Amino acid sequence: MTLADFEARYRADPDPWGYTRRPYEREKYAETLAACGPGPFACALELGSSIGVFSSQLAPRCRRLVTLDAAPTAVADARRRLADQPHVEVRLGKIPAELPAERFELVVASEILYYLSELELEDTLAGLERCMAAGSRLVAVHWRPTGPERPLTAADVHCMLRAQAWLEAVQHSGGTDEYLLDVLERR
Ligand SMILES: C[S@@+](CC[C@H](N)C(=O)[O-])C[C@H]1O[C@@H](n2cnc3c(N)ncnc32)[C@H](O)[C@@H]1O
Repeated sequence: MTLADFEARYRADPDPWGYTRRPYEREKYAETLAACGPGPFACALELGSSIGVFSSQLAPRCRRLVTLDAAPTAVADARRRLADQPHVEVRLGKIPAELPAERFELVVASEILYYLSELELEDTLAGLERCMAAGSRLVAVHWRPTGPERPLTAADVHCMLRAQAWLEAVQHSGGTDEYLLDVLERR
C-alpha cells in the first residue's frame, strides 16, 4: 500500500480498520497498554497513529506524547480526537524520513512497520536507535496474517527487532494467535 492508498482509504471511510468498534482492536489496545507499563512517561512516541484511538488511551500515561502518521485525513481526525489533551502533539510525517529527533522513553509501533520496505525498516530502526534513551521501551504489535498490501510480515518485523544488538527483548510475544507483541528495551 502506498501512502496515497492510505489517504484514499481514510477519505472513503474515516475508520477503515474499525479502531473505534472492533473487539480485536479493543483487546489489542488493552494488551498494548499493559505492555507499555503504567508510566508516567516523560516523552513517548507513537508511530503510525492513524485516527488517534490508541493515542487517546496512551496519552494519560504520558507527560508528553508525539504521534506520527503520513495520512493527512487521519492526522486531522486524530487532532480532533486529542484536542482536549494539549500535551499530545499529532504530527503529519513519513517514516523513516520524518522520524522525530527528540529523545523518547517509550516508542509504540502498532501495525505499522510491516508496511515499510526492508530498507525503510532498517532506516527506521537506525532512527529509533538514535532517539530512544538508554533503558527506554519499544512496544511492537503486528497482525500475523500475510497480505499483498504489506511488503513484510509480522514475523519478518519481529525477527528483525529481536536481532538488533542495541535492543534487548524483555517480553516475548505476549500476543495472541492473531497478532505478535514484543517488548524490547534500549541497552
Ligand atoms: C494499519 S494503520 C495502524 C494504526 C494504529 N497504529 C493501530 O494499530 O491502531 C497503519 C497506519 O500507518 C500509517 N503509515 C503507513 N506507512 C507510513 C509511513 N511510511 N509513515 C508514516 N505513517 C505511515 C498509515 O497512514 C496508517 O494510518
